[in-house]
Amino acid sequence: MIPLALAEIAQCTRGTVLDADPATRVSGEATVDSRDVAPQGLFVAVKGAHADGHDYAAEAVARGAAACLVSRPVGVPAVLVADPVGALGQVASTVRSQLTGCTIIGITGSQGKTSTKDLLLQLLSHHGETIAPVGSFNNEIGVPLTLLRTGAATRHLVLEMGARGAGHIRYLCEIARPQMGAVLNVGVAHVGEFGTVEATGRAKSELPEALPGGGTAVLNLDDPLVAAMAFQTRATVITYGVHERADLRIEALRLTAAGYPSFELTYRGERASVTMPLIGEHQAHNGAAAAAVAVAVGMDLTQVASLLASVVATSRWRMEPHERADGVLVLNDAYNANPDSMRAALKTLAALARGRSGSRTIAVLGEMLELGSSSYEQHDAIGRLAVRLGICRLLVVGEGARPIHRAAAAQSSWGGESVLVPDADRATEWLRDRVRPSDLVLVKASRAVGLERVAAALVDDGTVNAP
Ligand SMILES: Nc1ncnc2c1ncn2[C@@H]1O[C@H](COP(=O)(O)OP(=O)(O)OP(=O)(O)O)[C@@H](O)[C@H]1O
Ligand SMILES: [Mg+2]
Repeated sequence: MIPLALAEIAQCTRGTVLDADPATRVSGEATVDSRDVAPQGLFVAVKGAHADGHDYAAEAVARGAAACLVSRPVGVPAVLVADPVGALGQVASTVRSQLTGCTIIGITGSQGKTSTKDLLLQLLSHHGETIAPVGSFNNEIGVPLTLLRTGAATRHLVLEMGARGAGHIRYLCEIARPQMGAVLNVGVAHVGEFGTVEATGRAKSELPEALPGGGTAVLNLDDPLVAAMAFQTRATVITYGVHERADLRIEALRLTAAGYPSFELTYRGERASVTMPLIGEHQAHNGAAAAAVAVAVGMDLTQVASLLASVVATSRWRMEPHERADGVLVLNDAYNANPDSMRAALKTLAALARGRSGSRTIAVLGEMLELGSSSYEQHDAIGRLAVRLGICRLLVVGEGARPIHRAAAAQSSWGGESVLVPDADRATEWLRDRVRPSDLVLVKASRAVGLERVAAALVDDGTVNAP
């Protein structure tokens, strides 16, 4: 982190230094978790639903934090402010104004932000020091924390920007003032909070709107709501996608037998072949978004393509493959789910089965949360899609996901079977009794359903029942 004196922190946050010399410098990273404070770091006391960070301030200082950002005195070095989260944003904004020679890149979209951020980190690291968020840090806490990790040598800062309502991305952009921004897609994720897909689109368009005239907006031309954002930015637009008019184009996209997307990328008359070692067609789109950002910062297409061919999955539980000794392939996609990512995952499962004759497909699906009034209809559509794709077995977990089961079970033409179980433990039991060698098992639901436990149990078993 670029060092700041407590006096400077107090000045930009209109706070007061307590129990410390105002000349004390914070030079380590900022955190909201007292267990991972950095030496000379800043501990931000956030009041959450279950815990109050103020109760951990003393521990944070004992572990090496230089000071805390607090909204009440805690008896250890601190800057007292009205709202520690807002103050964190102000500190980040101050550091942002001191960053020179660093390109700040925002990524937003309904799905694929973390996946694209992971790819971009791997590409841009070959073009200068790059900082990107830990995990899915993408809100009013995660974005400033990531920004505060930058140093004088940082050349690229990649920021994941999430939104749960209007104005959220605008706020993140006011802090970070990105010169580049990529919008991946506008889907039905979190539509329960936004109201409509159009409202979701308007929230995402706050990123291109915030870009400066000399900046670059990377837009997915395959998504009409994203493509329309070309008219909502002063920045130069680079489009990507399979669309024939995309500046950076994906051509001849197919999945290999291992489920990896294989395709050609074209950009300004250049062409390069890529097979990305990550499962699912959607990774080609994330790869193209990352490639478009990379060429916009000055990397060449051939280098970008060869780097994409050797990327590794860094964030867990996103189409994470586990091949057991008995040939059972478990795809752990339990990180999260919404209708678009559910569709992408089911299509990938079906495509993988086509490359493995004799393999049965089993989809273990739980509820997709935050869909508001469209919830029933969206779950129902997933049940129908599973049937249309010829998924062999559906194991539907939890009452909230019942419409998937009901829709699938009602399709008389389907040769498969759907079973509804109440929870993750029952799902594990069901699978233990029935999974056979060479089965392909997809595990997916919203985060809160906790289906990663089912995937883990299945992987740990490593043994099979006789067919
Ligand atoms: N381009 C895409 N289109 C559809 N689904 C995708 C795409 N990229 C990733 N996914 C799927 O969406 C889910 C979430 O992926 P990821 O974590 O990258 O998205 P995110 O936008 O960061 O999500 P969050 O809003 O939870 O932070 C995973 O199940 C992944 O397999
Ligand atoms: Mg994310």
